[in-house]
Amino acid sequence: MKGEALQRCINVRCSLEYPVNEYRIRCENNHLLDIVYTRSINSSLKEKFYARRNPEGNIYNESGVWRFRELINFSQIDTDSYEECSKILVSLDGAEGRLSKPYKMSKVADYVGMLHDYLLLQPEGYNPSGSFKDNGMATALTHAKMLNVKKIICASTGNTSASAAMYASNEDVECDVYIPKGEVAPGKLAQAFQFGANIIEVEGNFDDALATSLKESYKGAYTVNSLNPFRLEGQKTIVYRALEALDWEVPDWFVYPGGALGNSSSATKALMELYSWGWIKKIPRVAIINAAGADTLYKIYNEVGLRWNKGSVDENTIIEYYNYMDKNNLKPKTEATAIQIGRPSNILKALRGLEFTNGVVERVEDKEMYDGMAVVGLNGFDCELASGAVPAGIKKLREKEIIKKDDIVIGILTGRQKDPMIPVKYHTDTRNRFARPPKRY
Ligand code: F0G
Repeated sequence: MKGEALQRCINVRCSLEYPVNEYRIRCENNHLLDIVYTRSINSSLKEKFYARRNPEGNIYNESGVWRFRELINFSQIDTDSYEECSKILVSLDGAEGRLSKPYKMSKVADYVGMLHDYLLLQPEGYNPSGSFKDNGMATALTHAKMLNVKKIICASTGNTSASAAMYASNEDVECDVYIPKGEVAPGKLAQAFQFGANIIEVEGNFDDALATSLKESYKGAYTVNSLNPFRLEGQKTIVYRALEALDWEVPDWFVYPGGALGNSSSATKALMELYSWGWIKKIPRVAIINAAGADTLYKIYNEVGLRWNKGSVDENTIIEYYNYMDKNNLKPKTEATAIQIGRPSNILKALRGLEFTNGVVERVEDKEMYDGMAVVGLNGFDCELASGAVPAGIKKLREKEIIKKDDIVIGILTGRQKDPMIPVKYHTDTRNRFARPPKRY
């Protein structure tokens, strides 16, 4: 198995390669990195993955991430032995990804204008720290363990820090989290405290916090933001669980909220690999939904018209756009603080993924996200405001007939509600579409 995984720069003219046991966030020329597997992986593994759903006491089979370990095998383990796995793999007792799979939600389907059986939403809030981040933190911490790292670091709008702190405390690793002061939901902040993270408040927004944490990371801490390609490997399993639930029949759409664009990029990477290995014969389209108040990707993709262009992407366009934002003091602003991001660090990977999947980018107002979040709740599922972008975005794409009525759609509900006052406020205001104000006795 040795030598089958490596890190490769995503810039097609650069394509520098590094071994997996080297820590770096970018190549020498400052481009993003991918984890690349040099050998095709046989689709007969589908049966093995399914069989592991009967975990037989092995938490690495119970884990919805490590159950698919052959598809994210940068640590190059080649064993089913629990003891051998536990020397290498990091898991929160098999809990990451264990409960998340796509569910039908009839009220959401009615709301977005789809047939009940054709819309499936996958609540990643069922992860141990309450968001999809745990999928990636299991793999990032595994890589950190391979490198014998003693301290991890991240910037966060809240969920990354909660997940990083949870995994770090369980692995006895120190964890510094840089957060935009006053812009993080109380439940997320509470988790970072609870799990013993060192919390550093930054004046400014997430983009400022990320710049600060990356500067500090050069003092020897290991970055677990989604710039880290090992983290994105774990998030690919969101797609695997969805596809497995459909017996590996490919849906027409995957729909993701877009913030730093790590999650949507991990999805399209998973799809690129599965397609190249012959596991899937059709490529689903990916829709990325921005908050209207933090719509950099929407603007760059739909208004400026920037494309990956088989790798010949004009990166200056992005720099010019950021300069324009700075000059006009344009700051991302949305109540969905999880995705209040102006400079999405994975924008190039997102463009690559949009090209591969013939994807689309939509944007939704806060009010639409509130309604989306509320209608998910009326189906008995809990999600946060940023995840409400998914039903809201599907509704909009249905209205535009981009998503067809009989398309099969899988939407990813990225996190559970960690700001209890958001639904309380929503439901007590009778102007809101799904409001259910309390009655007086
Ligand atoms: N949904 C939720 C609930 C999130 O917490 C995030 C990102 C996203 C969507 C966007 O995902 O960045 O991969 O495009 N939260 C990060 C954090 C930024 O720090 O917790 P993305």
